[in-house]
Amino acid sequence: MSLGRFPLTRLRRNRHDRFTRRLVAENALSVDDLIWPIFVMEGEGAVTDVVSMPGVQRVTLDRLAAHVEEAVKLDIPALALFPITPAELRDEHGTEALNPDNLMCRAARLLKKEFPHVGLIGDVALDPYTSHGHDGLIRDGYVVNDDSVAILARQATNQAAAGIDIIAPSDMMDGRIEAIRRDLDQHGLIDTRIMSYAAKYASAFYGPFRDALGSGGLLKGDKKTYQMDPANSDEALREVAADLAEGADMVMVKPGMPYLDIIRRVHERFSVPTFAYQVSGEYAMLMAAIVNGWLDRERAVMESLLAFKRAGANGVLTYFAVEAAEYLRRG
Ligand code: PBG
Repeated sequence: MSLGRFPLTRLRRNRHDRFTRRLVAENALSVDDLIWPIFVMEGEGAVTDVVSMPGVQRVTLDRLAAHVEEAVKLDIPALALFPITPAELRDEHGTEALNPDNLMCRAARLLKKEFPHVGLIGDVALDPYTSHGHDGLIRDGYVVNDDSVAILARQATNQAAAGIDIIAPSDMMDGRIEAIRRDLDQHGLIDTRIMSYAAKYASAFYGPFRDALGSGGLLKGDKKTYQMDPANSDEALREVAADLAEGADMVMVKPGMPYLDIIRRVHERFSVPTFAYQVSGEYAMLMAAIVNGWLDRERAVMESLLAFKRAGANGVLTYFAVEAAEYLRRG
């Protein structure tokens, strides 16, 4: 009998049965990893569907507590709030971003009161408030950096004062993390955390989100002069390094699934809390296949989320958060 005819090493042994697969699993998704983005709108008694994101809804403030109750019961650690600003409150300068009674601030106060232990993440960028849909101020057709940063810092402090725990600057201006940190500190908000959208790409995958916010139609041109070029990866490391040096507590890579390589590099290089945003277009893509019966819903959702953990992410912002938490609880 010739030894060596068969492999001594059989990797399939460790896949033989469920108990072994459980023992050797290198990564796991838990409810602790999930952040749920939610859309709030003005008005009363309304819940509307985001057509390009089946299962995702916008809610008015009086419906907000009921809307998030399930997520809180499932012990999802944090919510990311996105306000829909009516056209009449938008202007060229995004003035409404600084209103202490804007929708975001009212939502934050309400949620902090109802659910004090749930983390609140506030997106900082001017696009929900500008009439042109850009994340900063426009001068001569160009989104200017430093004057935008000055307003973003005030926007951040406005949100933190209303109860937002984690400021998440998504604007991609240079120097905004430092400006925000200084403004927060000057106002005594020294424990407000900053999760910077450090490597945020100029992506086609934000389309459904802009529909949800009603900023899609408004947006003039694109965001390529401030968001990153999808061709680049070394540059993402420079962005992360800069944000950490300026005081970011956590960093984010966005979009998620097409950028798993970036998450891996950031995690390996910096070993800091790193988050992925599985964005609206990724959700839309998966749901389109799911509602057609082309993908198994639970398996596809959970595999897509586990991939972020494997890539090195500490957590994921995902529109599937509640459903994933339900699957996890059920086991
Ligand atoms: C705003 C912002 C965007 C997203 C999060 N914050 C859109 C954009 O940059 O145009 C996208 C989120 C998603 O697509 O799910 N600056």
